[in-house]
Amino acid sequence: MPAPWRDRSGRFSALKAATFAALLIPGIAIAGAYALDELGARPIEEIIHETGQWALRFLLISLAITPARQIFQLPKLVAIRRMIGVAAFAYAVFHLVGFAADRMFDLWLVGSEIVLRYYLTIGAGVLLTLAALAATSTDAMVRRLGGKRWQSLHRLAYAAGLFAVVHFFMQSKLNVTEPIVMGGCFIWLMAFRVLARRSGTQKAASPLVLAALGLAIALTTMLGEVAYYGLFTRIKAIAVLQANLDPVNGLRPAGVLLLVGLGIALVAGARWAWERYRAAAAPSLSQPAQ
Ligand code: HEM
Repeated sequence: MPAPWRDRSGRFSALKAATFAALLIPGIAIAGAYALDELGARPIEEIIHETGQWALRFLLISLAITPARQIFQLPKLVAIRRMIGVAAFAYAVFHLVGFAADRMFDLWLVGSEIVLRYYLTIGAGVLLTLAALAATSTDAMVRRLGGKRWQSLHRLAYAAGLFAVVHFFMQSKLNVTEPIVMGGCFIWLMAFRVLARRSGTQKAASPLVLAALGLAIALTTMLGEVAYYGLFTRIKAIAVLQANLDPVNGLRPAGVLLLVGLGIALVAGARWAWERYRAAAAPSLSQPAQ
């Protein structure tokens, strides 16, 4: 297998090198903070939280590579998808090691907690899925399994994303703002794929459709937040709605999703306008000077 900063032909790739460095940064920051005793009163708990969050973030970023390639026409991004997926797995492994360290590496206790507590069983399922995806991510494995079987297997990444968000929700106590944002991002990623399958990539990636998608997902996120608090807490639906609509409360999850969705549509729009300008300018540019 080539070094992470080399492409398939063995040449240095700046994109892969930069991605590799970026993927290491959170790990180095967590390890550094631990070494300097800057992780608070319960450092191992903090490590569990940080590594869990980064595992989920990288998992969602790996799922965002295909939409990003299609929307911004950046085919080269495919070169970093595998690396980001493997990083999600690596952070999840450190997450589990942190969990075991918190139980003084008493493996019987670790195993029994995983079996007895639903949210841990779900986390373990996600970890096993990520392990299977990482183990079959090499070119040799793609050849061995055959393109179709490999693709079907790697669709498990969607299930991993879904259940990782569920695990995040279930371990959250009162404040579910972050899991709701992550859940909204996951729904956006899946909804874009459904749209691209149904109406074609070009249509799904058009700025207007992206803007409509951003609005729809923001609305879904707001309704999801209302439903969550209504079902699992005593907070009234109307209070959650008011919190969403009152700017004094800052940016709620729906607001974050709206900004992200419209931001993507805006960048796609700018790119579309630039392509049109270039296409219109091309003939005049190729005319010889009089
Ligand atoms: C055997 C596997 C796993 C175990 C035992 C485990 C265990 C835990 C524990 C104990 C917590 C903290 C709960 C608390 O403080 O009350 C947690 C939180 C979390 N886990 Fe896992 N987990 C596993 C797998 C995963 C995987 C595969 C992912 C993501 C891909 C993940 C993402 C998260 C996230 C995002 C949090 C919340 C962090 C925060 O609140 O800041 N976990 N997990």
